Amino acid sequence: MRLNGKVCLITGSGSGIGKGSALRFAQEGASVIVNDLNGDQGEATVAEIKKNGGNAVFIAGDVTSPEEMERMAHSAIQAFGRVDVLFNNAGISGVGALHELELDQWDKVMRVNIAGVFLPSKYLLPSMMERRSGCIINMSSCIAEIGLARRASYAASKGAVLALTKSMQVDYAPYGIRVNALLPGTIMTPFVEKYLQTSYDDPEKAILAIKSRQLSGELGKPEDVANAAVFLASDESGFMMGSPLYIDGGVTFGKNA
Ligand SMILES: NC(=O)c1ccc[n+]([C@@H]2O[C@H](COP(=O)([O-])OP(=O)(O)OC[C@H]3O[C@@H](n4cnc5c(N)ncnc54)[C@H](O)[C@@H]3O)[C@@H](O)[C@H]2O)c1
Repeated sequence: MRLNGKVCLITGSGSGIGKGSALRFAQEGASVIVNDLNGDQGEATVAEIKKNGGNAVFIAGDVTSPEEMERMAHSAIQAFGRVDVLFNNAGISGVGALHELELDQWDKVMRVNIAGVFLPSKYLLPSMMERRSGCIINMSSCIAEIGLARRASYAASKGAVLALTKSMQVDYAPYGIRVNALLPGTIMTPFVEKYLQTSYDDPEKAILAIKSRQLSGELGKPEDVANAAVFLASDESGFMMGSPLYIDGGVTFGKNA
């Protein structure tokens, strides 16, 4: 029970890594606040946690809406008295080389992936600062560190999240708040399945190509990232501040040939 008694809010936890993390956090004794745009998926995560004997509630909200994020912070604090851990997980993909992108496509990726970290944090930080305690986990990606073809907007957004994490850590360390980032490699989730279907003529061949660039030879699973998130959310990582944590099957620092 590594998160016993902790109140943890995970954005975008109706699917993929967020859902896997919500289930793991609850197994570790956390009370989980599930947030998502998609109400049916968010409620399904809550139902699964409750079926397993855990404690969870769903708060709908779009991470790009200041009004909805302010309301979410208010409802979470009203329900549980505090939020100990904010996991800014919600994000979308963006495919295309820079010259192929229109400004509205660029803006959408920036808004969800960067403002989607800024807004939940903005409205939950004051209560963490008041209590002089808190933990924020921001979802970056190993693409913040390595160049990958045709991901200009996505890479820029995840690089910004990593820079923002370090900057936030400096500002909030005096309040006893830790801020760290997760940098996953390719993790098999609905996000990646959709990307494979829409970006490649032969998705099976694409999966083989992606696997071949991993030292692991395999894609990651949501649980791989969820386990790292549990570590960052727990007191075990108490000396980690402003750090990137890689969960990438070796793709960032290894070379497969
Ligand atoms: N899957 C990967 O390979 C991978 C690798 C590195 C980083 N990531 C990052 O991990 C995070 C989760 O990715 P995933 O693969 O689990 O994706 P996913 O699409 O399976 O899940 C994302 C969830 O976020 C929700 N969401 C999207 N926009 C939202 C918004 N504006 N407000 C609230 N919720 C919103 C979606 O409804 C969905 O339930 C993303 O930030 C992604 O960039 C994923």
